[in-house]
Amino acid sequence: MTIPYVKHAFVCTHERPADNPRGSCAAKGAEALLKSLKAATNARGLGKTVRVQKSGCLDNCEMGCSMVVYPEAVWYGAVTQADVPEIVDHLAGGAPVQRLRVEGKVSTKTE
Ligand code: FES
Repeated sequence: MTIPYVKHAFVCTHERPADNPRGSCAAKGAEALLKSLKAATNARGLGKTVRVQKSGCLDNCEMGCSMVVYPEAVWYGAVTQADVPEIVDHLAGGAPVQRLRVEGKVSTKTE
């Protein structure tokens, strides 16, 4: 069996009502972010080795847009489209984008 992808990027696109105190990644532009990240990954020729896909809530809502990259389990928060080139560098085999990492930061989750 051949495993085609060496990295997976999961981008939360979960949506909540506008009055929900947790907010949601959808309200912060996650669908557009996902689209840009997919396009940039494919433009870089990584489509056969890197899979970028949507996910449900990653339970890091307050720090959205949220995403995680496996197999390293690198979590990113407050991601915007401006961050896409650096994240694609990471997906291409570069170092994680340290300024976007959320591991160890405290979430203000209330539920
Ligand atoms: S809504 Fe995106 S992490 Fe929860």
